[in-house]
Amino acid sequence: MERPWWHEAVVYQIYPRSFMDSNGDGIGDLDGVTARLDYLSWLGVDVIWLCPIFRSPNDDNGYDISDYQGIMAEFGTMADFDRLLAEAHRRGMRVILDLVLNHTSDEHPWFIESRSSRDNPKRDWYVWRDGRNGREPNNWASIFEGSAWKLDPATGQYFLHLFSERQPDLNWENPSLRQAMYDMVRWWLDKGIDGFRIDAISHLKKAPGLPDLPNPHRLRYVPSYDMHMNQPGVLDFVDELSRETFQRYDIMTVGEANGVSPAQAVEWVGGEHRRLSMILQFEHWTLWSRDPHAGLDVVALKRIFGRWQRTLHERGWNALYLENHDLPRVVSRWGDPQRFRYESATALATMYFLMEGTPFIYQGQELGMANTVFHSLAEFDDVFARNRIAQMRAEGRDDSDILAELALAARDNSRTPMPWDDSANAGFSSAEPWLRINPEYRAVNVAAQRKADRSVLHFYRRLIALRAAEPALIHGRYDLLLERNRQIYAYTRTLGDRGFLIMCNLTSREARYRHRHLPLRHDALALANQEVPAHPVVMQCVLRPFEARVYRIDPT
Ligand code: GLC
Ligand code: CA
Repeated sequence: MERPWWHEAVVYQIYPRSFMDSNGDGIGDLDGVTARLDYLSWLGVDVIWLCPIFRSPNDDNGYDISDYQGIMAEFGTMADFDRLLAEAHRRGMRVILDLVLNHTSDEHPWFIESRSSRDNPKRDWYVWRDGRNGREPNNWASIFEGSAWKLDPATGQYFLHLFSERQPDLNWENPSLRQAMYDMVRWWLDKGIDGFRIDAISHLKKAPGLPDLPNPHRLRYVPSYDMHMNQPGVLDFVDELSRETFQRYDIMTVGEANGVSPAQAVEWVGGEHRRLSMILQFEHWTLWSRDPHAGLDVVALKRIFGRWQRTLHERGWNALYLENHDLPRVVSRWGDPQRFRYESATALATMYFLMEGTPFIYQGQELGMANTVFHSLAEFDDVFARNRIAQMRAEGRDDSDILAELALAARDNSRTPMPWDDSANAGFSSAEPWLRINPEYRAVNVAAQRKADRSVLHFYRRLIALRAAEPALIHGRYDLLLERNRQIYAYTRTLGDRGFLIMCNLTSREARYRHRHLPLRHDALALANQEVPAHPVVMQCVLRPFEARVYRIDPT
C-alpha cells in the first residue's frame, strides 16, 4: 500500500469561535489561532482542522454558510486567513478546512434566488416540493428536531432542511449545482490549503421520490428510519466530487460519514478508489447516547473499533477520534473527572491514539477538559439544544428534567472557550466570552498543565512524540487481545520485527492483565500514565484504576 503523508499525521481540531480571541470582542478569531500556532507546534500536531470560518449568520455557528469564499466577519479577513496558512506552513503544519456541501445558509445568494420564484434558474439547486393535503410533503424529521420541511409562503412550496430550518439542503441531483461546488473547492485548493473535513457527506443523496418513512416516530429523528443517510447512489456523488477536485491535489480529505459501515467504508476510502483519505465513523457514539448514565461498555467498544481496524487494514485508512464539537467531553462520558481526571483522560487517550489510523484531538481534550456546568436553559447556545428544549417543553417535560438531560448531552459542553491560563476569562479574551467559560478553568488550563510535572497535556505530547518516532505505531498491524475482558482494552501493533503492546484499564477498579507477552521487561516500558514499580521482570500486571501502559515487544 502507498504511504501518503497523512498516515503519519496527527490532526488537531479547532472550533475557532472558542479557541482564542485576539481583539477583545469575546469571540475567537483567525488572528487568535495564528497567535497560538507555537503552542500547537510545541504539542507536536501536524494538521489543523478549522471548523467553518466562512461568512455565516451563525444559526449553527458557521455550518450555515452564506458565502463559501468569504471569511466570517467576526473571524477576520481573507488576509488574516492567508497569514494563518503561511504561518502554519512555515512551522511545518498543514491546514484543512470544513467543507459544508449538503446545505447552505438561507442567506446564501443561491437560496435567496432559489426562493424568489418557482421558475428561477436556481430553483432546482435546493429541494422544493408541494405540500400534501395542506401539510408537509412527507413525514421526514429534521436531525435537529421537528419536521424536515418548511413552507415558504411567497411561492407556496416547502423546502427540505435536514438540519436547522436556516440550513436548506442543496439538491445534489442538479449538475450545475455540483459544478459550482467543484469550482469553489478547487478555488480553495489552488490557494494552497491542505485538504478538507467534509461535513455530513453521507447525506448528499436522498431516496428517489422522497418517500415517507415506513415507521414515523412523529417528529423525532431516528437514524434507523432514515431516507437521506448513506442512500444507494451517494457514492456516485462522492466519486465525481473526488475526481473533479480532490484527486488532482496532494491533500488529505476526511468525510463525516454517519451510517457508513466498515465494509462499505472500503468503497469510500479504499486505496484503489482514492475517493477520500478517511472517514469519521459514528458507531462508537451509540455506546454512549443510548443510555448516558450507563458506564462504558468496554467489550462493545473493542468490538466496534476492532471491526474498523480489521476491515480497513491494508485496504483503507481510519480516522481515530473520541471527541469533537458535536459531543460532550469524553472524560465526562467514559472517564471519571471527579476522582480520576488525569488517569481517565490519559488512559482513554492511549487506548484510541495508538490504533491504526490518523488520530484527531479536539481542542481542550489534551487538557482532559470535562463537561461544563449549566444553571439554566437560557445558557444553551446551540441551535440543536434550543430546538430540543422547545420540543421537550411541548411534550410537557419540566425544565429541571430538560436541564438534567441537556447538561449531559448538549454540544455546548465541548464548545466552551479554550482555557489558556487562570486569569480572567481564562486568557481566552479580554472581554466576556460569547459562551461561558467552563468554571473549572482555574485548575484546568494550558499554563498550569505546562508547568506541572504530570499533566494530561504533557502526556498527550509524549503520546504524539512516541507515535511519530515509531513506524510500528503508524503502519503496524492491530491485533486485539482479551476480547472479552470487561475492564482492559489491550492490543498489539506489529510491523516486521518491531512491536508494541498497549494495555489500558478503562474502569475505576483495579484490573489484572494475565495474558500472552508475559513476562514483560520493565526496561521495555515505552510509556505509562502512572509510576510503574521498577521490578526488572513483570510477571503479571495489576493495573490501577485507569492505568495505561505501552511496552515494546518482540513479535517474532
Ligand atoms: C455536522 C457538524 C455539525 C453541524 C451539522 C450540520 O454534523 O459536525 O456541527 O451542526 O453537520 O452542518
Ligand atoms: Ca475576536
